[in-house]
Amino acid sequence: MTTDAAPKPAARPSSLPVKPRIYSGIQPTGRPHLGNDLGAIRNYVALQDRYEAIYCIVDYHALTHVHDPEVLRRQTLEMAAALIALGLDPERCTVFVQSDRPEVTELCWLFNTVTPVGWLQRTPTYKEKRANQPDDVNHGLLTYPVLQAADIALPKASLVPIGKDQAPHLELSREIVRAFNARYGVTFPEPQAVYTEAPTVLGTDGVKKMGKSVGNTIEVLAEPDVIRKQVMSMVTDTQRIMRSDPGRPQVCNVCQMHRFFGDDYEEIWEGERTARTGCVDTKKLLAERIIAHYAPARETYRELMADPVRLRRILDEGAERIRPIVEATMTEVRERMGLR
Ligand code: TYM
Repeated sequence: MTTDAAPKPAARPSSLPVKPRIYSGIQPTGRPHLGNDLGAIRNYVALQDRYEAIYCIVDYHALTHVHDPEVLRRQTLEMAAALIALGLDPERCTVFVQSDRPEVTELCWLFNTVTPVGWLQRTPTYKEKRANQPDDVNHGLLTYPVLQAADIALPKASLVPIGKDQAPHLELSREIVRAFNARYGVTFPEPQAVYTEAPTVLGTDGVKKMGKSVGNTIEVLAEPDVIRKQVMSMVTDTQRIMRSDPGRPQVCNVCQMHRFFGDDYEEIWEGERTARTGCVDTKKLLAERIIAHYAPARETYRELMADPVRLRRILDEGAERIRPIVEATMTEVRERMGLR
């Protein structure tokens, strides 16, 4: 897989990992939402057995919009606890915090020198972020995808489980790696995205992608009452005005979510179509199913958060485990580029 995409397959360096390596990053936004889990984390968990998997909490990226040190530190630990609670097993995969392996910032700088600035200015997420924080258009926002490319390239990962919103970033990562390989010789595999069955999860508004900055999330590890409130606020089929109107499950976000929380979703959809059930019934059922589904994870999350020493040890071990991989890449890159 790694050689197929490389521009000069004949020049495949022996330093590429034999088994495809998985890498993905997630911002330390505290407790994850349903979009994170259905769109990405479920795949992190599924892939940890089949591949050498590395998962990172990207606190350097978060600095482009989180400026409170206490918040960043707390949310980093919360995300670590959440990932483990949701099924990442530190014995079977590597979980680490980005700033614990600062080599990535060096690789980011080196990648900056092969990245035309026009590529970055055209990135849709850059335009979005500029619009979201007009008073804080820091350089980090522009170079954000270069750091992401460096994240993936540092362990020479070839597969990247992500949601669809990250597709433009992954495309840029591929282009950056290709530019590097073309200038300095084939060093990195061109990474490919791996999507779940829910690559884009809509928020409670039923219109925008679920995201913390939009405020339309369902927080999967929150207390049951919070989840109930969030689910009950969901917008359903906007054309179904009266209880007796037939519903359209194919356009109803609540009905769509039922697909991931039980095998009987077609029955639920039929109830909507025939107006046997109302939107409120369907939402109540969804809330209870989400609460039940995440109950064990909620418990583990609580236990982990009560033991920050254990959590920090897991993260320290993760950063230590990938040290040799990272150092080997950096030695090779420095040599290829003419650095000492
Ligand atoms: P982040 O932290 O915004 O999201 C983490 C993961 O969750 C997915 N996701 C969604 N999937 C479907 N529907 C949604 N509503 C939804 N919201 C979030 C994201 O696609 C992502 O996979 N830039 C990245 C972090 C990053 C990274 C990397 C990812 C940094 N370096 C290297 C992969 C590889 C981000 O902000 O994700």
